[in-house]
Amino acid sequence: MSVVVVGSANVDLVVDVPRTPGAGETVLGGDLRRSPGGKGANQAVAAALAGGADTTFVGALGRDEAAELLLDSLRDAGVRVDLVQLVSAPTGTALITVAPSGENAIVVAPGANSRLDLGTAQTARIALADVVLAQLEIPLDAVRAAASARNPGALMVLNAAPTRELPDDLWHTLDLLVVNEHEAADLAGTPEALLERVPAAVVTLGAEGCLVARRGSEPVRIPGIQVDAVDTTGAGDTFCGVLAASLARGLDLAESARLACVAAALSVTRRGAQAVVPTVGEVAAARGKAR
Ligand code: RIB
Ligand code: NA
Repeated sequence: MSVVVVGSANVDLVVDVPRTPGAGETVLGGDLRRSPGGKGANQAVAAALAGGADTTFVGALGRDEAAELLLDSLRDAGVRVDLVQLVSAPTGTALITVAPSGENAIVVAPGANSRLDLGTAQTARIALADVVLAQLEIPLDAVRAAASARNPGALMVLNAAPTRELPDDLWHTLDLLVVNEHEAADLAGTPEALLERVPAAVVTLGAEGCLVARRGSEPVRIPGIQVDAVDTTGAGDTFCGVLAASLARGLDLAESARLACVAAALSVTRRGAQAVVPTVGEVAAARGKAR
């Protein structure tokens, strides 16, 4: 039972702000926080902490101190980092503001992430995975290489964040798409339209839970759990990582999405994107309360 996450790793530079600045506006915020992030690394940490699936992160980092911060965080969570590439570009950086509602705004300087180029060691590990999970903060060619390296019996999952136009050849390789409502609208309009392009899709709905849609069956709506949001950064990543690990353990899509919803809800009650992924025990306890 194994997951390979192919994606980005960023150092997150985070400031709490009274409101998200508009164009041309300067806003005074709180103290700067620096923490490990990046959609790929966040998802790998979540998959590993979900338990039950051996997790590898495939990504690119610079040869700098920021890379150490990310490698430490991944290793602490039990993620394999032996296939991470060290390249001649600075480690990716994300500039993040967090408003009092917990809502964030993010700008990413991809740096090393844009140099990710899968080699034979990476594709060999991908070929052994039960679930391959990618996002869109890395070159499309890396996503393509991951999709074509996977075992035909494995699941190729794409979290299409941040959204961009996807070429047809890539759509054809996907088994499952995970997007939020805005990304779903950008890509296809409606969840039904998404299913014309992929066999299954999960649309996350923030505090409202998520929608699981599969070709040929009725969509399943999974309710959210009410929590006090402090920082929503990385909630979608926690969702994707826990979903992938649960699928790798052999749970079905709806059950996996249920666990992912609980984990994502817990993650927004804590600051940061990685150190906040709830453990298996915490997810189980919260689920008990939700019922
Ligand atoms: O999804 C949240 C992540 O997006 C942050 O950790 C930031 O690094 C960006 O990649
Ligand atoms: Na959080």
